[in-house]
Amino acid sequence: MSDFPDTPRHIAVIMDGNGRWAKERGLPRREGHRAGAESVREITDTCIDLGVEYLTLYAFSSENWNRPESEVKALMALLDRFLAEKAKELDRQKIRLLAIGQLDRLPAKTRNLLDRIMARTADHKTMTLVLALSYGGREEIVSAAKSLAVDAAAGVLSPDAITAEVFASRLQTAGIPDPDLLVRTSGEMRVSNFLLWQISYAEIVIVKKFWPDFRRNDLVEAVNEYQRRHRRFGAL
Ligand code: FPP
Repeated sequence: MSDFPDTPRHIAVIMDGNGRWAKERGLPRREGHRAGAESVREITDTCIDLGVEYLTLYAFSSENWNRPESEVKALMALLDRFLAEKAKELDRQKIRLLAIGQLDRLPAKTRNLLDRIMARTADHKTMTLVLALSYGGREEIVSAAKSLAVDAAAGVLSPDAITAEVFASRLQTAGIPDPDLLVRTSGEMRVSNFLLWQISYAEIVIVKKFWPDFRRNDLVEAVNEYQRRHRRFGAL
């Protein structure tokens, strides 16, 4: 639990603007992603310091497969490097790593790295870092609906027994509290198929800066903004 009043328990981030950050500097897009990976490290550490319990990062969407092969390769290589370098540190910092998304679409090397680190950090309690990889909110919802339909068709689940809680238990985020705060960088005001079910009541903070420029103080500022808002959950 956090020592700070009203710290969001779960922060979810749409890390946007790596490409534009690179373009502004006349650099290839992969350099923007590389700088973005530095922000990932700093924001993870900041969340630990603030006492945030869950941090979910939108690292690769199901639509990102449509990018040029060279960019997809560069992103996977960056992810592999991040995982390989961070494995020991995650263990030392007592961070549990989870991944959500269509993980079977990832290269075998990346999947193996993820599996190894997830197994090694499974019991850690300081914070949970959730990487959304090859992730799409609609796909996740369709898959949950299918699993309920299979049980209903088999007669082991009555349609009347399907509640919001039962539905949520079939999502990949089962057991993870919904995000309290959703941050998106680069000024875009879209949710882009990210955690569609889970962000129903999240406070949304849009930050103008591109992701590679989003660092410790920017996250603290976003949390301050969250704390200033009166959270009503639809009630008066
Ligand atoms: C959006 O920028 C960002 C991504 C598609 C990928 C996010 C990846 C990282 C931050 C680096 C690697 C991740 C980890 C977990 C180490 P964009 O390319 O859409 O930017 P643009 O909208 O300016 O083109």
